[in-house]
Amino acid sequence: MCNPVNEAPRKKRMLSCIQPTGTPTLGNYLGALKNWVDLQDEFEGAFAVADLHAITVRQEPAKLRRQIAEMFSLLLSIGLDPEKSLLFVQSQVPAHTELCWLLACCTQFGELSRMTQFKDKSQKHADNINLGLFAYPTLMAADILLYQPDYVPVGADQKQHCELTRDIATRVNGVYGNVFTVPEPYIMKACARVRSLQAPTQKMSKSDENQNSYISLLDDRDTIVRKFKRAVTDSEASVRYAEGKDGINNLMEIYGAATGRSFEEIEREFDGRGYGDFKLAVGEAVADMLSPIQEKFATYMGDRAQLEALMKTGAEHAQYVANRTVQKLKKKMGFVLL
Ligand code: TRP
Repeated sequence: MCNPVNEAPRKKRMLSCIQPTGTPTLGNYLGALKNWVDLQDEFEGAFAVADLHAITVRQEPAKLRRQIAEMFSLLLSIGLDPEKSLLFVQSQVPAHTELCWLLACCTQFGELSRMTQFKDKSQKHADNINLGLFAYPTLMAADILLYQPDYVPVGADQKQHCELTRDIATRVNGVYGNVFTVPEPYIMKACARVRSLQAPTQKMSKSDENQNSYISLLDDRDTIVRKFKRAVTDSEASVRYAEGKDGINNLMEIYGAATGRSFEEIEREFDGRGYGDFKLAVGEAVADMLSPIQEKFATYMGDRAQLEALMKTGAEHAQYVANRTVQKLKKKMGFVLL
């Protein structure tokens, strides 16, 4: 028999956030952000600009303000659709800081002390080892648990924080009764594992001193083509995917993700042609992929009123979901709700 109408199984929920600290690279896009867009039909998604996390290291206010608007615009521009997913700015939903305190009282000093990111960052910012930096994973747990997601897609660097989120959720559920869905990390199949154009054994990173090593999502066409022209390759002069050809392998991954072509198709396309041709083709394919995103970005950034209206709607929808979770936990903890 067929299913009764309107009884489609609930879509699984997914949540992820990104800090507004600089323009993402092609690696961030093909490794994570594009997946968020591709998964937004399959899942009920929630995506946020994690601006409260950004101030765990000192930020310049005017720059932070601009970067929040830019990151929100960029998420819209890559195709996250506020009609399908919750899309909002973390600081505009006060429940995040409120739940963070409630969870802080259920997080152990020892647990936070073991976080490798805290150890790294407190070495890097030795003059500003603040409580927020220490509590960062608890705020992240709040971001996640507020929306009761089944999955959290994150990269390897955030795995430890996700584990801690699960531990906190399990602990709170044990003490106060079922409050939270305990989320699973979601290991995404990256569209491409993008490496540095200058040192292709390393990950592409926007904090690299050498700007030629990464493509920013807002680089213009000439810059993109120039950076690919300078990409490190090898002396074999043959476009094929093979061990030891890290530079070419990287370019093939990128070209494949930008054009949808398989490695075999790429090898056939460039059979007997030099690296110059190939690099130019990769540069142009990437520029073609990014130019519609950049056009949308310019439109969003050019209309502040519309952008803020979208933030407002997003924040209101998020608040509705988030407040329910906070109320539920406060009640169970013994607070007097009005
Ligand atoms: N800490 C994450 C990062 O730097 C960003 C983040 C904040 C996040 N809150 C989150 C990611 C919740 C996933 C879920 O990448």
